[in-house]
Amino acid sequence: MALAAPFGNYQLEIYLNGLTGVLPKLPITYADLEDAAAGALPASVLSYVAGGCGDELTQRVNVTAFEKWGLIPRMLRASEHRDLSVELFGITLPTPVFMAPIGVIALCAQDGHGDLATAKASAQTGVPMVASTLMEDPMEEVAAAAESTPGFFQLYTPKDRDLAASLVSRAEAAGYRGIVVTLDTWVPGWRPRDLAAGNFPQLRGHCLANYFTDPVFKAALGQDPADNPQAAIMQWVGTFGNPLTWDDLEWLRSLTKLPLILKGICSGEDARRALDAGVDGIYCSNHGGRQANGGMAAIDALPGVVEAAGDAPVLFDSGVRTGADVVKALALGATAVGIGRPYAYGLALGGVDGVVHVLRSILAEADLLMAIDGYPTIADLSPEALHRN
Ligand SMILES: Cc1cc2nc3c(=O)[nH]c(=O)nc-3n(C[C@H](O)[C@H](O)[C@H](O)COP(=O)(O)O)c2cc1C
Repeated sequence: MALAAPFGNYQLEIYLNGLTGVLPKLPITYADLEDAAAGALPASVLSYVAGGCGDELTQRVNVTAFEKWGLIPRMLRASEHRDLSVELFGITLPTPVFMAPIGVIALCAQDGHGDLATAKASAQTGVPMVASTLMEDPMEEVAAAAESTPGFFQLYTPKDRDLAASLVSRAEAAGYRGIVVTLDTWVPGWRPRDLAAGNFPQLRGHCLANYFTDPVFKAALGQDPADNPQAAIMQWVGTFGNPLTWDDLEWLRSLTKLPLILKGICSGEDARRALDAGVDGIYCSNHGGRQANGGMAAIDALPGVVEAAGDAPVLFDSGVRTGADVVKALALGATAVGIGRPYAYGLALGGVDGVVHVLRSILAEADLLMAIDGYPTIADLSPEALHRN
């Protein structure tokens, strides 16, 4: 099943419910969502999700940089038929959004199984999930919970090449439709909120199910991770972050015939070089400002990456909070736009329904903005549709 266009109809549903006194259970704005989630999440999970790197400048400008762009309203181009579907690696997706990989999404759910809840929301909406390597439930179970909605597997490339190959082949067997290799997290960034709390969830054994169920990981450990969790965690520490260079790309490419997408690319030069080396897609992102606090907004990197990428698909995330942000990223050339923290907060507040509400709200706003401003299809959006405020 998938959400049906026009997505703006979600507002009619909300207003009609209001006639019988039924109000939305969850906040409508991102600010209210964030506030409410802050009250619902345990302090350690909240600091991990809400926090970023350094003084969080990058995290803030990721969001405020969208304010520098405005969509030019064009009239007498109204259409009741809007098409927000996109083509990605030969797959037709009903919406232009996807759920970005969130490693501790499991812990955001009240029952600690947020990967499964996210996958169920994916099944209900048709919005793909990019499943993180860092899950509380194994990738095979998460893939099954997404039912017929295509999903992607995000790889944190371990130092152990055999383990990397095993994770990728498991992802293939589980039915994921592409491998997203995250490049910017071979070492964790300096995150003051987590440092102040002395808290890094994985070191406490959270979200390591994909490792602890892996035959290569278990063989290297020489025992069942359940029998010696501390040794298993230390083995994870030893293998987690492979400091990849361009020389590793040929090997990464050789691991799979699935589309290979590199996440964390923010320069046109890197995008071109990666595509020349045989990757299938570029994922422009600065990890939501969680990894490096260099101060450049991801959306400002997008036009250069899109130009260098030519016809190759460009996924984008970092700072997307509203439907208007989605529309602006599409106008700047993103093929599909990743939602990050907003769905984590929806999950924290309302489980599967909470994620669905957040996605429907963002899509409704995007659809209505495109309808009212005269851009009824994604093909109508281009940089010329934007004004620099
Ligand atoms: C709590 C948290 C955990 C994340 N874990 C991962 C991960 O496991 N793999 C990954 O590639 N990106 C991860 N990211 C980054 C997201 O995929 C995405 O780039 C980021 O959330 C975008 O920023 P935004 O949420 O502020 O829009 C994580 C982000 C958050 C907030």
